[in-house]
Amino acid sequence: MNSLIEQAAQRLEQLRQAGAEMPETPPVATTFAAAQTPAADAPPSALSRRVEIDLEALALAGIVSPNAPRSQIADQFRVIKRPLISNAMGKGPSMIANGNLIMITSALPGEGKSFTAINLAMSIATELDYTVMLVDADVGRPSVMNMLGLPIGPGLLDLVADESQDLSRMLLKTNIDKLTILPSGTPHARATELLASDAMTRLLNDMAKRYADRIIIFDSPPLLLATESRVLASHMGQIVMVVRAQKTLQSDVAQALATIEACPVKLMLLNQARTVAKGGYENGYGYGYGYEQQQA
Ligand SMILES: Nc1ncnc2c1ncn2[C@@H]1O[C@H](COP(=O)(O)OP(=O)(O)O)[C@@H](O)[C@H]1O
Ligand SMILES: [Mg+2]
Repeated sequence: MNSLIEQAAQRLEQLRQAGAEMPETPPVATTFAAAQTPAADAPPSALSRRVEIDLEALALAGIVSPNAPRSQIADQFRVIKRPLISNAMGKGPSMIANGNLIMITSALPGEGKSFTAINLAMSIATELDYTVMLVDADVGRPSVMNMLGLPIGPGLLDLVADESQDLSRMLLKTNIDKLTILPSGTPHARATELLASDAMTRLLNDMAKRYADRIIIFDSPPLLLATESRVLASHMGQIVMVVRAQKTLQSDVAQALATIEACPVKLMLLNQARTVAKGGYENGYGYGYGYEQQQA
């Protein structure tokens, strides 16, 4: 049997010959479809998309990976994830509304949001704690797929632009059982408006309800450059604000924090703080433990 992609190409050709005006197929969609074509006799469940993360490459890139469980980065994220998991899964009167929706943001670009979001997702998923959905919501500068060495393809923006699409079919399964990914999707001229739209709000509510037992991590746009990030923040149960040590101005941090005041749980993570090891050597870059939690 032909692959899905060949079938799609044939169908397009038939339509073209019939005189239909067809948009150019974006090359990204092609790359993606090739990686996800199910076997001809695959059962319906196997139709959901699946991608393979190169775990060796991940470990080499200094990212948390099941192949390097004893690494320094793995240790750091064990500490970082603990309060987030307990807030997300907290039960009883202290339960935080939408506590399982966790936004990773920062005041400005380049502070380490994507690096943090990926490591956090990997850390929670690889230790089999909980099922994690990693959403690339930084639609202006998406980088999750690139950092994980995965082909780009449809995702969040496609779901928001066309509400008839089903979230579960857009999710990517990975070779890490407990990790699914929602890519940022097909680039869209009005991407930022879409992120702040009512359709996005409906999608977030749907996610929170349908996947209440999962931890959903949003790699998000920076707060001071993107107002849609503030809209996104208003739906989150927890926000991790990444601050790049020795670079971001205190006034920018304060201004960014002011925009997310309403979120029940805010944590600040100092990234790339230089730490000095016992022998006096500089320990390179890493996460400092400037970890602060404010809970309303
Ligand atoms: N703690 C860290 N250790 C090593 N590299 C890091 C760290 N934090 C960020 N980086 C690197 O710095 C660059 C910017 O980080 P990134 O996560 O892409 O920022 P943002 O998503 O906030 O724009 C990336 O190349 C990333 O891999
Ligand atoms: Mg990023």
